[in-house]
Amino acid sequence: DKIPAERMLGNISLSDLKTISQEDIEQLLRMTDQIQDFQELMMKYECAMYEIKTKLDVLNKELSLRNNRNPFESIKTRIKAPISLFEKMQRKGIPFKVENIKNNISDVAGIRVICSFIDDIYMLADCLKDQDDVRLIEIKDYIENPKPSGYRSLHLILEVPIFLTHDKEFMTVEVQFRTIAMDFWASLEHKMKYKKDIQDAEMITEDLCFSADMINQIDRRMQQIRERIDSGKVKDSL
Ligand code: GTP
Ligand code: MG
Repeated sequence: DKIPAERMLGNISLSDLKTISQEDIEQLLRMTDQIQDFQELMMKYECAMYEIKTKLDVLNKELSLRNNRNPFESIKTRIKAPISLFEKMQRKGIPFKVENIKNNISDVAGIRVICSFIDDIYMLADCLKDQDDVRLIEIKDYIENPKPSGYRSLHLILEVPIFLTHDKEFMTVEVQFRTIAMDFWASLEHKMKYKKDIQDAEMITEDLCFSADMINQIDRRMQQIRERIDSGKVKDSL
């Protein structure tokens, strides 16, 4: 039971949404003559994503040479899949048209930076947002203000210019900074959230939130330990 393209352009139900595949989205873009514009837009997001990733790699190189340790452990990049983009726009009630993507969706290009310590997160985020070709659009500090789920991370919505043959265009990139511990929690919670028909859903949510708080205490503890070690180093060398 295929959903006709005309219906995919309007509002469709959640159950219909589940039957739509990646190929259907591509088909839809072709039928509405948007495939080329779509590919061009995604190419621009990809370029912007690499601009920001390079800035982070540069900071990592400089700081690890200077301090003998890496400010981040790993970095991941992703472009939102067309099907996820379609789902998100459906959820927000925005018609799936290429012209609507840029103004409404801020996480087409995403970067996740996994740090060892909480203070590295703020140090990196400050360095990045203060660069003079980077525009800060929004900061969501879910470390200071965790989500009700217990989710912690620092999100930056940035704009960065990309330079093409004929034009310069600012593109949005979402950067999520979190510690290894926060990432551990977020990955497992994400996996479990999508399990259907959970019994005791409320208790499980509470338990997950409690676990997030425990993980946060350990994160702060590890940071204190590192600070003690660092201050010991200074004393030794005096
Ligand atoms: P979205 O519509 O999901 O993009 O929400 P939003 O635009 O309000 O953005 P928000 O700042 O809430 O962060 C969205 C992203 O953060 C998600 O795509 C996840 O990667 C992550 N995130 C936010 N909340 C949670 C959570 O409770 N658990 C996990 N595992 N990840 C979360
Ligand atoms: Mg998002």
